Amino acid sequence: MKALILSGGKGTRLRPLTYTGAKQLVPVANKPILWYGIEEMVTAGITDIGIIISPETGQEVQTKTGDGELFGANITYILQEKPAGLAQAVQVARPFLEDSPFVMYLGDNLIQQGDLSHFLKQFSIEHQDALILLRSVSNPSAFGVATVDENGRVLQLIEKPKVPASNLALVGVYFFSNLIHDAINCIQPSARGELEITDAIQCLIDQQKRVTACKLEGWWLDTGKKDDLLEANRLILDTYLEKSITGEIDAQSSVIGRVQIGAGSKVINSTIRGPVVIGNNCYLENCFIGPYSSIADNVILIDTDIEHTVVLENAKIAGIHQRIIDSVIGQRAQLTVAPRRPKALRFMIGDDCQIELT
Ligand code: TTP
Repeated sequence: MKALILSGGKGTRLRPLTYTGAKQLVPVANKPILWYGIEEMVTAGITDIGIIISPETGQEVQTKTGDGELFGANITYILQEKPAGLAQAVQVARPFLEDSPFVMYLGDNLIQQGDLSHFLKQFSIEHQDALILLRSVSNPSAFGVATVDENGRVLQLIEKPKVPASNLALVGVYFFSNLIHDAINCIQPSARGELEITDAIQCLIDQQKRVTACKLEGWWLDTGKKDDLLEANRLILDTYLEKSITGEIDAQSSVIGRVQIGAGSKVINSTIRGPVVIGNNCYLENCFIGPYSSIADNVILIDTDIEHTVVLENAKIAGIHQRIIDSVIGQRAQLTVAPRRPKALRFMIGDDCQIELT
């Protein structure tokens, strides 16, 4: 069994963060989203992992993630020249996949940890040609939608239907036998110009191959947009964070609940109420850091009050006398108070930023 993790794509929904980096490397609880997928594979016993990368962000993904040693896996990077669809990514990966069965995993998705082994067992025992995971959602039109009979056999799959036949959305995890390659060779690009994996699976269904679905009961998140990213951050902190303090906290500070503070970080006259993760070499002074906040390495926070917020590496926030909530602050971003008059707001805002003032 091999794994194919998709870490190419355009990442338009997560701009501006994705102008300067891969969306799959955006951290959730201070760990790149992509790494959760890799760890999930390794936990399920799959260590031969191919990662699809794009020309724009591939180098960064490769440098950060490495050859797999970090995870006890063997990682092969596969360049997809253009984001021409999930099925095209499988086509590009054919030399890596050979005729092995494989699990395909979207690198910006997160599923509850430990769920994969169960589905892998089911796929292997029942000799399926495809096993897809489904989850009930309230807005099925935004996803690939399946209709399934009472035995779990998939009857039909439609990508982003205007009138959805069910509320069962395709989760970004698929198990395939080598028959998927012939199916992909039979399909044509969709209206949006992509080779759709749903069309390839539909082709297997039409050929009476064994395509079944399982319902994912645990949580699943597609971190493609800001609010999904914040929700993923909340869930991971809520579920997995353990208390661990390596940095320094002065006597005037109080740290309550599950909080991690990394090496070289200093907390002065501040209150931190977990779950909160603070990376290495951060400096916090006169701050309140509220629940569900993740602060990456080398961040400076002074006279700042934040909650349910993700702050990326090397950012600086100082002297903002209003609580910052539900926010994502990008790498090296600076949010400070103007040192000179007139008292006014001054911005240098990148493309596609969203700022809400009251
Ligand atoms: P999407 O989130 O559907 O596509 P995208 O990354 O282009 O994002 P956006 O809609 O914001 O522009 O892709 C799901 C995952 O699959 C994501 O990790 C990117 C990856 N992917 C590829 O590796 N190759 C592809 O051709 C496509 C379409 C996606």
